Amino acid sequence: MSIIEIRGLCFRYSGSEEMVLRNIDLSIDEGEFVLITGPTGCGKSTLLRCMNGLIPHLYSGDYKGSVKVMNLNPVNTPPYIISQHAGMVLQNPENQLFSLSVEGDIAFALENIGLNREEMVKRVETVLKLLRLEEIRKRSPYELSGGQKQKVAIASILALQPKILLLDEPTSSLDPRSAKSIIDALAWLCKDKKLTVIITEHRLDLLVQYLSKLVIMDSGKIVYNDHPRNVFEKISLEDTIIPIPKLIQLVRLLKKEFGFPQSFPLTVEEFVDSLIG
Ligand SMILES: Nc1ncnc2c1ncn2[C@@H]1O[C@H](COP(=O)(O)OP(=O)(O)O)[C@@H](O)[C@H]1O
Ligand SMILES: [Mg+2]
Repeated sequence: MSIIEIRGLCFRYSGSEEMVLRNIDLSIDEGEFVLITGPTGCGKSTLLRCMNGLIPHLYSGDYKGSVKVMNLNPVNTPPYIISQHAGMVLQNPENQLFSLSVEGDIAFALENIGLNREEMVKRVETVLKLLRLEEIRKRSPYELSGGQKQKVAIASILALQPKILLLDEPTSSLDPRSAKSIIDALAWLCKDKKLTVIITEHRLDLLVQYLSKLVIMDSGKIVYNDHPRNVFEKISLEDTIIPIPKLIQLVRLLKKEFGFPQSFPLTVEEFVDSLIG
């Protein structure tokens, strides 16, 4: 059963002329790892805001169509309830850190929902372990690296035990190594903990191997929505909506010129396997 079901969603921000989302249909099942990508301004953040109820509660506008998040309608459910099911991690972790220590920060969100102390301690311990933050639990979030800060922000959201994690360009301010470590952690949470992960990102090459769905948007519409292998088999290489990873370009060229490899490798490892296998 779908954990998120969006039908005919259209949205225009108050005071703006332009429709930002145009007839969006999207179903996401439990445990999926979904990337929403596309050029700046195509509506990715707006779509995420519709999934956690920030739209229409914080941002008003013309809203048509239906959104269901674990069978709740964000339009008539308070955002604090939706965010316990679909937690959002923002681009800049600084905006999500408040406390003097890593563990204090994680506990902060739990205090807000009024958990008892015993349950709070249990959840803080669990997420510190999940994201391997135990060694820095007493440190101030402000003295951590960008990658560590983003992990703390993710841990604070996970402590609320959402089924769905929404991340809006969580690695855009990070160096490639920290970005990889965040993405690998997300892939593990998805696979091992059955977390549904929905992320907007430009780093396709780091993500592609983990995705169950690649959604490409352009000017408020979904133009591709399929397994990345199927999208990359179809997408026009002259298409400039998104930068196509170099490996994918090479595979497409080889297939066209030589009918080889027969499979469609998405990573260098899969490519090597296709050569020797
Ligand atoms: N709060 C807002 N009020 C009015 N227009 C907005 C607001 N936020 C975003 N927009 C506009 O909506 C469009 C889509 O923005 P956004 O969803 O942020 O795109 P993306 O995340 O893909 O870059 C852009 O044209 C942007 O200028
Ligand atoms: Mg955005």
